[in-house]
Amino acid sequence: MVDHPRLFVSQHPLVRHKTTLLSDKTTNPRLFRSLAFELAQILVFEATADIPTRAVSFETPMEPARGELVDGDIGLVPILRAGLGMVDGAASLLPNATIYHLGIYRDETSHRPVSYYNKLPARFDCDLMLLIDPMLATAGSASAAASALKQHGARTIKFVGLIAAPEGIARMAAEHPDVPLHLARVDRELDANKYIRPGLGDAGDRLFGT
Ligand code: PRP
Ligand code: URA
Repeated sequence: MVDHPRLFVSQHPLVRHKTTLLSDKTTNPRLFRSLAFELAQILVFEATADIPTRAVSFETPMEPARGELVDGDIGLVPILRAGLGMVDGAASLLPNATIYHLGIYRDETSHRPVSYYNKLPARFDCDLMLLIDPMLATAGSASAAASALKQHGARTIKFVGLIAAPEGIARMAAEHPDVPLHLARVDRELDANKYIRPGLGDAGDRLFGT
């Protein structure tokens, strides 16, 4: 396993089951989207295991009681376009989260990230930002996105993704060692075109049927 100070690869059997179906080439866009939604829910559930809560008083139908509510503001940042396939699953668990959009595509020849849309606020005041993208290949896109979030004042960032290559994990360790990676699966390698092998192909195309 590649070295990263904060690498969390889900060990949940449902995650292994669903990523297998996700990667299968016979999975159609409709099933692919529902698997991406469900995997995002599970991974965000795991990635938020340490968020703070605050004590509250309330009343059950039977008596006054004490409970806990999530404390602090959480931001979700899907990297367009494929990150859109995971954001609804994340938001279903975190309905009070604010959603910010960042458009980055990978140039087909240079494989370098190209930023084309940035709807980040001048200054974040969130306590936690979840950066969401199904694929971490070279990590050019995720690294550029993490840098953008930091430039806009993000203090704590976690990356939530589905499939990663060892090369991308190593790059995130070098460029953003403070950003934990919450992943469903780590695959073998990148090929000559910088696609993840065995991978699942092009995540955006598989989500949207293009
Ligand atoms: C995919 C994926 C990541 C990026 C990963 O997006 O969703 O953003 O590639 O590759 P990297 O780690 O080498 O940067 P793509 O560029 O295909 O754009 P799309 O989401 O618009 O399809
Ligand atoms: N982007 C994808 O969608 N798939 C890969 O394998 C690599 C980058």
